[in-house]
Amino acid sequence: MRDARAGPSKRNRSTYNRPVANKYLSYDDQRAPKVRAMFSRLAARYDVVNDVMSFGLHRRWKKDTVRLALAGRAGPARILDLCCGTGDLSFLAEARAVPGSSVAGLDFTLPMLGVATRRRVLARSRSAFAQGDALRLPFQGGVFDAVTVGYGLRNVADPLAALREMRRVLAPEGRVVILDFGKPDGRVAGALYRAFLRTVMPLMGWAFHGDPETYLYIPESLERYPAQRGVQALMREAGLEGARYESRLLGTMGLNIAEAPAASRPL
Ligand SMILES: C[S@@+](CC[C@H](N)C(=O)[O-])C[C@H]1O[C@@H](n2cnc3c(N)ncnc32)[C@H](O)[C@@H]1O
Repeated sequence: MRDARAGPSKRNRSTYNRPVANKYLSYDDQRAPKVRAMFSRLAARYDVVNDVMSFGLHRRWKKDTVRLALAGRAGPARILDLCCGTGDLSFLAEARAVPGSSVAGLDFTLPMLGVATRRRVLARSRSAFAQGDALRLPFQGGVFDAVTVGYGLRNVADPLAALREMRRVLAPEGRVVILDFGKPDGRVAGALYRAFLRTVMPLMGWAFHGDPETYLYIPESLERYPAQRGVQALMREAGLEGARYESRLLGTMGLNIAEAPAASRPL
């Protein structure tokens, strides 16, 4: 297998050289403020659009994420839902984890957290939501048994640094599960998928937010996101063990899974 850290393959090099033409995306120090501005704009209708654009399938993939995160754990778990947005994974984790578990949702976009907080009240949930940056987690080391990230890692300026932070806050043998858009194997499937995203997503953005660039951000950000295989390599580089992945819907969605080492090793 190709080492994803070696940079883009010849096939992908033209992608890396392409200028980014989306006002919410840049690969410089403006990445985070642009992402925050975009999700601030999307927050109010974010949940509805997810159901429409995935035909409700995101709910199944999110259940899979939580199931994988908690698999094999009998007792209470301390769960961090990173880039929690409006809280889907947090609420699913709370419902699935055994009594005595705790769920913390962290995100850096206040309007997304505002929706999560309203849902928390309606659902009488005990999940705790807070503002924070995935690149500087406001937690001591080793305090979580599981970390979930739904459609978040692709938006973070430095995915490897974020994975190192996840490893830092995980207890020994704690597990991280990352759900995001994937990349199908095969050129034809990949090209069809990209064409689909580049046609349908701007329509979604235009219809729901009056701005095609909001959802065109998805295929744009996917171009340089390493997806299933690349995230697996990054997980290993971050010191996580047993890095593996599962694909859904012909590889268009990916679930990356790994554990913190059993004994604490220096970061
Ligand atoms: C596509 S939403 C996903 C929300 C939710 N996890 C879900 O699956 O529906 C991505 C979220 O990541 C958050 N995010 C992006 N970069 C972040 C960072 N560096 N630190 C914290 N949150 C971040 C955004 O604010 C946004 O709410």
